Amino acid sequence: MSSIVVYYSHSGNTRCLAQTVAERTGSRLIEIEPETDYPSAYNDVVRQAKKELKAGYRPQLKTAEPDLSGVDTIYVGTPNWWSSPAPPVSAFLENAELSGKTVVPFCTHGGGGVGHIERDLKKSCRSASVRPVKPFYGRIYSQDEIDGWLGNA
Ligand SMILES: Cc1cc2nc3c(=O)[nH]c(=O)nc-3n(C[C@H](O)[C@H](O)[C@H](O)COP(=O)(O)O)c2cc1C
Repeated sequence: MSSIVVYYSHSGNTRCLAQTVAERTGSRLIEIEPETDYPSAYNDVVRQAKKELKAGYRPQLKTAEPDLSGVDTIYVGTPNWWSSPAPPVSAFLENAELSGKTVVPFCTHGGGGVGHIERDLKKSCRSASVRPVKPFYGRIYSQDEIDGWLGNA
C-alpha cells in the first residue's frame, strides 16, 4: 500500500508544503488544477471564491482522477478560502473513489486556522476516514512541526 499527496494552491504556500509532505512520506505528488485558472489579483479571487463557496460550485478540473487502487493514505492540502477548502479540492475529492482510504488533510491559512474545513472535507469524502486537519500559517512553520504531525498522522 502507498500514499499520495494531492493539493491545490493559488499563491504557492500549499504547494510548498505539499512538496515537503511528499518528500518526507515518499509519496507521489499531484497538483489539482482547475480547467480555468482563478484570477491572480487578490481581490478578484476573494470575490470569486466567496460566490463559488456560497453556491457550492465545483469547478471542472484539468487533473485526471488518479488510479487510487493500491493507495491507502491520501494527504490532501488546501488553502483556507473563507474558512472552507478551495472548491477545486472539494471537486477532486467528490469525484474520487475513496472507500476504505484514510484522508490526512492539511491547510495553509492567513491567521484563521482550520475554519470549517474539517467539517466540509468530511462531507466531501464520506466513504473515507478523515483525520483532523493540520493548519499551517502561510509559510511560517518548521520542519519539526511537519515531521511531528506526520509522525502522529
Ligand atoms: C479567496 C481567498 C480566501 C481566503 N480566506 C481566508 C480565510 O477565511 N481565513 C484565512 O486565515 N486565510 C484566508 N485566505 C488566505 C489564505 O488561506 C493563505 O494565504 C493561504 O496560505 C494561501 O495558500 P496558497 O498560497 O497555497 O494559495 C484566503 C485567501 C484567498 C485567496
